[in-house]
Amino acid sequence: MKIKKASKARLSVRLDCNVYFYRFESKLSIHTAHPPNFFFHRCRRDRNGYGFFSFMKTLCFTTLPGDGIGPEVMNIALEVLKALGDKRNFQIKSSSHDVGGIGIDNHGSALPKSTLSACRDSDAILFGSVGGPKWENLPPKEQPERAALLPIRKAFELFANLRPGNLYPELADLSPLRADTVANGIDVLCVRELTGGIYFGQPKSTKVMENGEEEALDTMVYKTSEIERITEIAVKAASLRDRKICSVDKANVLETSVLWRKVVTECVTKLDPTIELSHLYVDNAAMQLVRDPNQFDVIVTENMFGDILSDELAVICGSLGMLASASLGTGRNNLSLPFGLYEPAGGTAPDIAGKNLANPCAQVLSAALMLRYSFGMEEEAASIENAVKETIRSGLRTGDIAQGGNSVSTEQMGNAIIERLS
Ligand code: IPM
Ligand code: MG
Repeated sequence: MKIKKASKARLSVRLDCNVYFYRFESKLSIHTAHPPNFFFHRCRRDRNGYGFFSFMKTLCFTTLPGDGIGPEVMNIALEVLKALGDKRNFQIKSSSHDVGGIGIDNHGSALPKSTLSACRDSDAILFGSVGGPKWENLPPKEQPERAALLPIRKAFELFANLRPGNLYPELADLSPLRADTVANGIDVLCVRELTGGIYFGQPKSTKVMENGEEEALDTMVYKTSEIERITEIAVKAASLRDRKICSVDKANVLETSVLWRKVVTECVTKLDPTIELSHLYVDNAAMQLVRDPNQFDVIVTENMFGDILSDELAVICGSLGMLASASLGTGRNNLSLPFGLYEPAGGTAPDIAGKNLANPCAQVLSAALMLRYSFGMEEEAASIENAVKETIRSGLRTGDIAQGGNSVSTEQMGNAIIERLS
């Protein structure tokens, strides 16, 4: 926010929270850095000639609720954001669009053009989940998961996938790991490269050979720049945590992994030599993760290894219903912050969809990540995270984490989170 003096104006400006106090004796022109994201909601002058105006920050994002439990948990996340906005002086301006199976049904595409362009016009994407039995018999390339998620990641070059593996000590019983291993909970961050490697490498094909046999081909490929940029994200993340990075590869077999290890090492040394860097082969990493997850702080790895290890991390953290994720790109939004896609780790849970039984925590925590990374609202993000933690601490459980005990509905869980927002 810049205030320019148009002529000799005597101006005093004081900033208190979101309220700017000013006194003017001449004409002023006021420039905001990001006009669409801020909204003057008050502009008055008191009898002494002092005026004040306050900005209400407006968060512009697109919601893609998708299929199954997606819409109902998305509603809770929006309610939480609205309630927090009332407390902390921001408002949300979100528009909802079809993606996944519902995109196929309504528009003939899992990622309709209108959805993609709405995403382009906003500052972040809050994603629900896609897929379900109804679309399972489509050819693999057209199925909601593959036909929606992969192109959206590519379209926005969302190369960094952050998957925090958190297990609250109160939920330690949910982990399949030994009680003494997880008594203090789990806190590991998986940083997965998301737009390269075998998922996207070309050529990719299936053909019938001369002898009638079919042959399928995927290509695993990585460039230095792709490894550098994901390492940079891991270094940033580690510097805010316990300053430890474990890079996971298969450098005893794969060329891409040899390059991966070399570039990660050079990059960490260059960016911050005080970070403790270690390397593990992916088979060993998978084993170490179940043996002692808390030996890790930040794990950085390529696309496919990250897919596998992050699911392993999710299951040892007890319930998919609790895990959020952020996919950040090269692009910057209107606030000059990373454009990102935020989604829960769990799937569409078609068996409980529409029954008000789903756990909304992962979707709510994904909204918190959105505030943190795409809107630079650390305190607000922490407020949501604390509210979820306190709700769990108070003993409230949805069916997936109730272990046969009493359980509450999606809405009850959402209301309990809202009550605990600060
Ligand atoms: C994930 C999913 C996706 C992936 C699938 C659905 C394409 O498993 O986000 O981890 O493999 O990346
Ligand atoms: Mg996966």
